[in-house]
Amino acid sequence: MANSLTLGTGAQMPLVGLGTWKSSPGQVTEAVKAAILAGYRHVDGASLYENETEVGDGVHAMMDQGVVKREDLFIVSKLWNTFHERHLVRGACEKTLSDLRLDYLDLYLMHSPMGFKPGDTLFPFDADGQAIPDNSNFLDTWEEMEKLVEDGLVKAIGISNFNREQIEAILNKPGLKYKPVNNQIECHPYLTQEKLIGFCQSKGITVTAYSPLGSPDRPWAKPGDPTLLDDPKVKAIADKYKKTPAQVLIRMHVERNVAVLPKSINPGRIKENIQVFDFNLSKEDMDTLLSFNRNWRVLPFEWANKHKDYPLNAEY
Ligand code: A2P
Repeated sequence: MANSLTLGTGAQMPLVGLGTWKSSPGQVTEAVKAAILAGYRHVDGASLYENETEVGDGVHAMMDQGVVKREDLFIVSKLWNTFHERHLVRGACEKTLSDLRLDYLDLYLMHSPMGFKPGDTLFPFDADGQAIPDNSNFLDTWEEMEKLVEDGLVKAIGISNFNREQIEAILNKPGLKYKPVNNQIECHPYLTQEKLIGFCQSKGITVTAYSPLGSPDRPWAKPGDPTLLDDPKVKAIADKYKKTPAQVLIRMHVERNVAVLPKSINPGRIKENIQVFDFNLSKEDMDTLLSFNRNWRVLPFEWANKHKDYPLNAEY
């Protein structure tokens, strides 16, 4: 399939997927429908986003109308941190499948290497505002995810927010049955991730970029934070190609063989964000975009930086 990456399983993952983090339940169904009508075949979700029922409504509307068949779509979800203990993994995946009303996922990711205390709250915090860990370790969680492949609930499994050492721990796990096919990480010109992307690709692990536009709608945005979409240097490159800054920020990943998940709930912007296959960025412009790196993160997870499996203290 054109415009897609081949996973270790042989499956094709379309390079541009619709992001659904921050899309409200009331808006995401229409966004998914608009995306599929605009040609998206990859939808990225997570139980954490608390909108999977409504994502499923959009997917089913398009299947019911005959616009797409299930096998045309690449649907991704993620195991949240409070479900890392062995006995919770399968139920979490089944809940996602039942919310989406699907009988399999194309890709299921461990949302992060960090296990959090199971229970009613998705973010269990202690008195110091730090996430409370569970008793799991991510290698055991991975074994439970491998069973989901064997039992046909998911076609492939991967990881998200893992650093190099944590990836190596999985790859070197005795008795490993399935390698992660994908690592989904934050990536954009202010966080270019050269080393981690190079490492993953050298191991046959595809990479997906989240927050490609710098997530200006993140709830904790502060005045003075860097804003990628308004960066005059990004705009200058976009003008050269008669494209928008968003299209340049998305195309940049395609040039690196990295899948990318722009989030939008606006039909015009949803269309704009997949119109990135009719131009190429020159090597010089790619180098310029990569030179904007400042190791700035939308998601530094500072509320979990004491966790034993906090991924972001390592160089990469
Ligand atoms: P909206 O959903 O109203 O379109 P990220 O993908 O990095 O998380 O960024 C998502 C944010 O970027 C949302 O606020 C989204 O707003 C906005 N956005 C998405 N596509 C575009 C675009 N083409 N131009 C400008 N802003 C965009």
